[in-house]
Amino acid sequence: MSTDTFRNYNSTISSLSKIEKTYKKMLENQNIEFVNEMTEDFFMSNPVDYNIWNAIDMLDIIIDESDPDTDLPQIVHAFQTAETIRSTYMNNNKLKNIPIKSLFTEDEWFDLPIQYKNMYSTSIDMLYPNIIEWDWFILVGFIHDIGKIMLLDNFGNLPQWAVVGDTFPLGNKLDPNYVYSEKKYESSNIDLSTNIYINNCGFKNVFFSWGHDEYLAKTLERGDNNLPPEAIYIIRYHSFYSWHTPSNGIRGYKHLANHYDWLMLPLLKCLQKADLYSKSNNIPNKSEIKDKYNDLVSKYFPFQNIKLFQKYI
Ligand SMILES: [Fe+2]
Ligand SMILES: [Fe+2]
Repeated sequence: MSTDTFRNYNSTISSLSKIEKTYKKMLENQNIEFVNEMTEDFFMSNPVDYNIWNAIDMLDIIIDESDPDTDLPQIVHAFQTAETIRSTYMNNNKLKNIPIKSLFTEDEWFDLPIQYKNMYSTSIDMLYPNIIEWDWFILVGFIHDIGKIMLLDNFGNLPQWAVVGDTFPLGNKLDPNYVYSEKKYESSNIDLSTNIYINNCGFKNVFFSWGHDEYLAKTLERGDNNLPPEAIYIIRYHSFYSWHTPSNGIRGYKHLANHYDWLMLPLLKCLQKADLYSKSNNIPNKSEIKDKYNDLVSKYFPFQNIKLFQKYI
């Protein structure tokens, strides 16, 4: 697929009306009260240990209704995202020296505040001097969508609008580059019509819509694993398209970002590109996938276990 054929929400293919319905419900129903309720329901009880391969296998039966680009099983998407990170951004256990500017469109680059244009006038491997080993980045590609298990009966059976799709801040007006923002579906949602944050408070101090990003980030923060904070950060914001990949070239929510959010933006963009542009219909063999990822999974998840939280009913 060529890059301009992805994220096309205007097609007349009948299945796409399902996508619009999911976004409509999301913009009407996601609010701070709902996010607090979900956080409490999922994280008030003890997690259950799952073998990570069983967790990934569970994704097999999930179809993401917000995604216009693929109807392949999620495990294939996980593999393709990870392999794209490996081949595009990695050289052995290091990042390649890719110019950061090449990750941005011309409009996005033009719109950057001057201090960040300066900060990004280097290659991506120079931006994170404190990180020595990078193989976790490939693993992030592999596990980034595990939070979609919230669609399954054992994990809450949540509706699609509470699990998938682009995420957005609550307690702040919806940015004009959000999908379907021209339809004003959010007009009755009080948490998308007022701004409650102080400038540059940082995304870590902002309520985000509930979804598979936040669930997995919170899960990993509470479980036994060796992933660095950068890994959890990019998982947490990988569906925050208005920020990392604004459709109109004008980055949304700049007033909420702090220095750390700007520092992480190029890395987040790498994950986004691998997440989106790796979608193709080449389906790898499942046992080959397991063979290839066994060592990497063991390195970051002791005993190959992940602690997953189930919704309290
Ligand atoms: Fe995702
Ligand atoms: Fe994904």
